[in-house]
Amino acid sequence: MTGALDWAAASGDSWAARWRALDLALGNLSQHLIRTIFDRASVGDIRALDIGCGAGATTLAVADTPRFNIIGCDLSPALIAIATERAEGRPNVRFCLGDARSVASSEAPFDLLFSRHGVMFFADPVAAFSNLLAAARPGASLVFSCFADWSRNAWASRVAEAAAGHGLEPPDKSPSGFAFADPAYVGAILTDAGWAGLEHQFVEFRYSAGSGEGAVDDALELLAHVGPASAQLRDLDEGARPAAKMRMRRIIEAHRNDRVVDFPAAAWIWSARAAGESR
Ligand SMILES: C[S@@+](CC[C@H](N)C(=O)[O-])C[C@H]1O[C@@H](n2cnc3c(N)ncnc32)[C@H](O)[C@@H]1O
Repeated sequence: MTGALDWAAASGDSWAARWRALDLALGNLSQHLIRTIFDRASVGDIRALDIGCGAGATTLAVADTPRFNIIGCDLSPALIAIATERAEGRPNVRFCLGDARSVASSEAPFDLLFSRHGVMFFADPVAAFSNLLAAARPGASLVFSCFADWSRNAWASRVAEAAAGHGLEPPDKSPSGFAFADPAYVGAILTDAGWAGLEHQFVEFRYSAGSGEGAVDDALELLAHVGPASAQLRDLDEGARPAAKMRMRRIIEAHRNDRVVDFPAAAWIWSARAAGESR
């Protein structure tokens, strides 16, 4: 489970220390997400909110189109500091430290709300998505990505099982990167929260964990500190960790193609609409 307190502290700091590697890891997914964001955005000037913006990659990519005015919000001070630095000189971008629900309320209204993997961590998802809807203009769009099945994300399942040294059950629905893997569950949350026009698209992509001479070492460094394998490592006694890392290394080696380590990965891209006509 990764809750708000974790993101505001250790998990956020760990992502912040590796933001470049994580942008590469999710880069092959981003192109699909950004295409959907542009498809769903209404015409004219757009006020948008990036929910759980992290180091700002999606905000900055969308803000390359000047008609988008974007607020990125995140719980992690370390990630907001990086995002703010990256956005220097970008007049149509602003980053705010805070919970998405309170930032959404205080900065409303929005024509578009989007997120790359930042919406699976709410303790009460129906209440959170209701709150986001209350901050949306009539006809506004919501677009977000989230990981699909555990078994289709070898970068997580295979590597975490290697770290544990045994098979693992898929994560349950408590807040984590895999909380939104089941589309029936997510569809019910969005419907109960009042969002309309639900659509979800299945996307397979390569999760790039490392490249170049040190691809395997880089991938091991990343996966030992971020994601499900890192949680398995933390749960082990100190003395058991070197062997666990050796098992992780073997799986990572098996996914090295020349100078690249990448893994099969899969995500859902959801879109929804606030009732009413957009401006
Ligand atoms: C998996 S990371 C993704 C970060 C970023 N969107 C990206 O793709 O690089 C999830 C992010 O959501 C943020 N987050 C989680 N719950 C949040 C909340 N309630 N309000 C604001 N940010 C939140 C975390 O701090 C973290 O940066």
